[in-house]
Amino acid sequence: MSDGVSSLPWAAASSAGKAIGLYARWTPALDTKIEAALQRLRDASIEHGDGLVQSSSLGVEDMVITDLIARTRLPIAISTLDTGRLHPETLALIPQIKDRYGFEVEVFKPVEQAVVQFVAREGEDAMYRSIELRKACCGVRKMEPLTRMLKGRSAWITGLRREQSGARGDVAFDEDDGNARRKISPIADWTWAEVWAYVEKNDVPYNPLHDQFMPSIGCAPCTRAIAVGEDFRAGRWWWEDSTKECGLHAKS
Ligand code: ADX
Ligand code: SF4
Repeated sequence: MSDGVSSLPWAAASSAGKAIGLYARWTPALDTKIEAALQRLRDASIEHGDGLVQSSSLGVEDMVITDLIARTRLPIAISTLDTGRLHPETLALIPQIKDRYGFEVEVFKPVEQAVVQFVAREGEDAMYRSIELRKACCGVRKMEPLTRMLKGRSAWITGLRREQSGARGDVAFDEDDGNARRKISPIADWTWAEVWAYVEKNDVPYNPLHDQFMPSIGCAPCTRAIAVGEDFRAGRWWWEDSTKECGLHAKS
């Protein structure tokens, strides 16, 4: 890990009016939850060896998990799916992870020809026209690269939390992903306040879009800020009346 954290841009900024100032609350349970999450990562690493990968969207939960992985000093690969439609602020975290932790993030991109054909056929913003087209876009840009990310791997680590939505209310720490792999969600029981308390205490780098009322960040055309009182995932595929899942974690 690099020292000189205070010279880094995310550490220099004041937390007033930002996500840390708004949400971070250390709870009496958090120390125990951190220890339990670290133990889950150690157990998974022992069980799966190099068959284990962290699937990181570079969202704040995943940044917390990368920080936890750095603490364990375990050789867990960190991977991300770069759909080609991510915000520049999201992509900027890849070199920040390298600077801060020394980890080279594996980046999986869609097959170029498949994207070119899809866009030529349906247009750049096909996702707004129907749920089917939105899912087709996610299929080309996320699901196919995910298949390559998980090839030869027996387990993946996610930043899913139960609090994120009703559909995620029963996320287990370790579950079958339906494709003969284990899906490990070490911070499934953390609250939003606890995620930000950890970020604050450990100066975890995070996407500045979280400071602009985007709690859940996906592709740029499919993410907007939420208003006070809206659900955590209301800014994802906001024009749809759907379960707001792209297939990565959809339950069949
Ligand atoms: S999504 O299905 O709606 O896109 P969400 O953004 O809530 O998922 O993220 C949940 C978890 O899915 C993340 O913590 C991460 O493990 C995984 N994930 C989501 N998007 C990506 C991505 N672009 N690359 C890698 N993993 C991702
Ligand atoms: Fe396409 Fe939006 Fe899905 Fe990203 S989230 S892959 S832009 S439909």
